[in-house]
Amino acid sequence: MLDKLIRKKGGEPKTDNADRQLLDETAIPGHVAIIMDGNGRWAKKRSLPRIAGHHEGMKTVRKITREADRLGIKVLTLYAFSTENWKRPKPEVEFLMRLPEEFLGTYLPELVERNVRVRMIGDHEHLPPHTRRAITRAMDETAGNDGLILNFAMNYGSRAEITEAVRTIAKAVAEKRVKAEDIDESMITDALMTAELPEPDLLIRTSGEVRLSNFMLWQLAYTEFWFTDTLWPDFNEDRLQEAIGVYQARSRRYGGVDKEDTD
Ligand code: FPP
Repeated sequence: MLDKLIRKKGGEPKTDNADRQLLDETAIPGHVAIIMDGNGRWAKKRSLPRIAGHHEGMKTVRKITREADRLGIKVLTLYAFSTENWKRPKPEVEFLMRLPEEFLGTYLPELVERNVRVRMIGDHEHLPPHTRRAITRAMDETAGNDGLILNFAMNYGSRAEITEAVRTIAKAVAEKRVKAEDIDESMITDALMTAELPEPDLLIRTSGEVRLSNFMLWQLAYTEFWFTDTLWPDFNEDRLQEAIGVYQARSRRYGGVDKEDTD
């Protein structure tokens, strides 16, 4: 099926007209992580306040969650609010903190119906109580679901996450439960908030920015990256499929070499 993709020599496949038939259903990435960017610019282009962009972005979250579920993606991690986003104007922060309530207030029944499990990574404790309540309720109500995991990165920062993991391990060493020489990569992986999740296979960032912005720095070590100029509120099913088409055409070597190049 993949050979249907028209591959430019040495370059990315052309997937501008990506449609479902082009995707190899046996090679759908298990974990897709998305840095949802460009809400502010989307609003500005329409002479709307930035929060209008975030509200539209929330609708894209619904669209992409549905599509991820339909495609058979197992985990969808969405970077909804970073530890650095507190620096934004207070009304914008307050609006962003209301979005989980609105989203889950409206769509939780649909998520339950679709067997989606809601999870969160990030500093839960320092979220406003109303935000925390909405997320906790969604996590509780979907705890028994075993379909798509919809993982919100909310008040999340990768360096803070790694720092906390180091603290946990250092404490275990100080208490002599762990020997320093026994610390290995899997111990660090298990001390992160993503301990129960597979590493992302595909990272998408919208809006043309090409950086990680303190997102899953440890977990993305072998992830395929795909960047698009599309602003998050304009991101849709076709763009997600385009990203997956590109992902499927890449060869993941994890630092090794392709089989045909082993001589
Ligand atoms: C970055 O765009 C986007 C955010 C900081 C917020 C992302 C949040 C959503 C898309 C909605 C989340 C929905 C739920 C249900 C939690 P930006 O504002 O930095 O855009 P700009 O770079 O164009 O200014």
